[in-house]
Amino acid sequence: MLDQIKSTSAFVLEKAGIQPELGIILGTGLGGLAKEIDVKCIIDYNEIPEFPVSTVEGHFGKLIFGVLGGKNVVAMQGRFHFYEGYSIQQVTFPVRVIKFLGIKHLFVSNASGGVNPDFEIGDLMIINDHINLIPNPLIGKNNPELGPRFPDMSKAYDKNIIKKAIEIASKHSIKVHQGVYCATTGPTFETPAEYKYFRVIGSDAVGMSTAPEVVVAHHMGIPVFAISIITDLGVPGKIVEVSHEDVQSVAAAAEKKMTLIMKELIQTL
Ligand code: HPA
Repeated sequence: MLDQIKSTSAFVLEKAGIQPELGIILGTGLGGLAKEIDVKCIIDYNEIPEFPVSTVEGHFGKLIFGVLGGKNVVAMQGRFHFYEGYSIQQVTFPVRVIKFLGIKHLFVSNASGGVNPDFEIGDLMIINDHINLIPNPLIGKNNPELGPRFPDMSKAYDKNIIKKAIEIASKHSIKVHQGVYCATTGPTFETPAEYKYFRVIGSDAVGMSTAPEVVVAHHMGIPVFAISIITDLGVPGKIVEVSHEDVQSVAAAAEKKMTLIMKELIQTL
């Protein structure tokens, strides 16, 4: 795998002609952050050898290189999900590649269903921990050049960055929660009993991504900041039918707040 990662990142770096310091993964309906980037180069995933091709509506499948908050960044517009049928190693391969482009931090965004009864639709939740119920991407032979066999996960979400993000949010009077993100395979949204179960095991929000990417980033020693937009509620009494379109439109409406926090946060790194 290491050879593939190295050859893919060399290909991308040569094409991009810009070395990013920060990686950003844009979740469902959250591609608008890309509009804030002073774009230098865009590479479609289908031009990149070894990259899977995204199949989900609302995920465009591009690497966007440019400047945001005064830093060179690479944004993944479109990510890969386990439910699309990729192996969990394929899902997380792009994170390995962008590490080899030289990123020093990774920002991740997603849309998720809130199971904490204090949450409302359109709220932001800074992820401070996760429960990964998608297969672990580190299963298989470990390459010590990438990271340790048994990585510690007690500090997967960088506490310093979280603190700064909360300060920025409060300066702009943006309401943010902190909480535990539970990653499930999907593609079904949850039954009421499943939402209840996710709450009981300690989750505040549930979604179909992020945790495997964070595991891989943490394995390679990259500090992570991750944020969820709560697009629907899995809270007894508040559960309504949910569709991918609803998730996209709520995420798009709420993403301005997230973009502002991320942009200012980048300046502090
Ligand atoms: N469940 C799982 N994934 C999601 C949800 C949800 O309610 N909302 C957005 N992504």
